[in-house]
Amino acid sequence: MAGQARDPQSILREAAAIASLAPSIHNTQPWQWLVHERDTELYADRTRQLTATDPDGRSLTLSCGVALQHAQVALRAAGYLPDVLRLPDPDDEDLLARITLGGATGASAEDTRDYQSMLIRHMDRRPFADRAPSDEALQELAAAADAGGAHLHLVRPDQVTTVTMAVSQAAEVEQSEPAYRRELHDWTHRGVDSGEGLPAGVLPEPAARRVPIREFDPDRDTGLPDEPELADRYARYAVLFGDRDDPAHWLRGGEALGAVLLSVVRLDLAVSPYSDPIEVLATRQLIAREVLSGLGAPYLVLRLGSPARSSRRGPGPPGARSPRPSSRSPGTEPLSPGPRD
Ligand SMILES: Cc1cc2nc3c(=O)[nH]c(=O)nc-3n(C[C@H](O)[C@H](O)[C@H](O)COP(=O)(O)O)c2cc1C
Repeated sequence: MAGQARDPQSILREAAAIASLAPSIHNTQPWQWLVHERDTELYADRTRQLTATDPDGRSLTLSCGVALQHAQVALRAAGYLPDVLRLPDPDDEDLLARITLGGATGASAEDTRDYQSMLIRHMDRRPFADRAPSDEALQELAAAADAGGAHLHLVRPDQVTTVTMAVSQAAEVEQSEPAYRRELHDWTHRGVDSGEGLPAGVLPEPAARRVPIREFDPDRDTGLPDEPELADRYARYAVLFGDRDDPAHWLRGGEALGAVLLSVVRLDLAVSPYSDPIEVLATRQLIAREVLSGLGAPYLVLRLGSPARSSRRGPGPPGARSPRPSSRSPGTEPLSPGPRD
């Protein structure tokens, strides 16, 4: 027996609320859901766009794509098939998707597992443990990206220097821009209670890394020695990419990213993204040319590895999740879970 019939609007409302657990650039949560009687619409919230850091809206749309994927996961875990129409209105580019509730089929074990992964997923910016992810695990992540509607290129060892170069150049360009610095300051000083942005607790201590992560406080003295031992020696890197560099493909890229991130949880790995080398035209082109060999348009770079041993999913900093508004906090069980017929 499929789960008992429920009011479609309340199911859609809960799925939209849970989708706010999706990751977003600087935790801006740049989405807006409009829930109707039988469908729900996902809008890009341009008031939350980082106009200096992300003027094209690439990261905004990717973030919304993950929210779209999360909403679908929630609906499937509740036992309903989501029917998704992407960019349904050619006259309204901010209407990114419309989800209609399909039949009640019951949830599979995989649906329930994805839902549970979504509840505990978070980015982990700490240096990784000295244990490399297996090639099989990395292949599973690439397969998840393909199934989600984009691709994951696993960076070869001989390409890591290019990624380091791209990240460093992007940091230099962006940190010289006052508007970029203002956005960074704004979204790192909102406080935990705001339910958005990046509080100090989720940002790691300075560390010298093979590929430096974004510096969220460019004015601080890192206190690092001149020739430090490099962290993340066992990390692997990957580039999420798609066939085209346009909003329709960014949305699919975000859905693929959502699938990859849930697989990261399932495989007991850890991940944090770099969008800075994509935000700067010259370094985006460098990655497209030298790392992707012209195969597609890069959307995001991922750092993948084994989580540092202490409390990966515990409440303590800095492996912890960034805050979300309490009014949107989900419960811990899938919506109306139901066994398959
Ligand atoms: C499109 C996109 C770009 C991001 N870029 C970066 C980045 O450059 N550096 C970083 O440390 N985190 C980056 N993040 C991670 C977000 O800061 C993180 O997802 C957000 O703070 C919410 O936290 P959570 O994912 O732990 O729930 C990015 C996330 C997304 C979706």
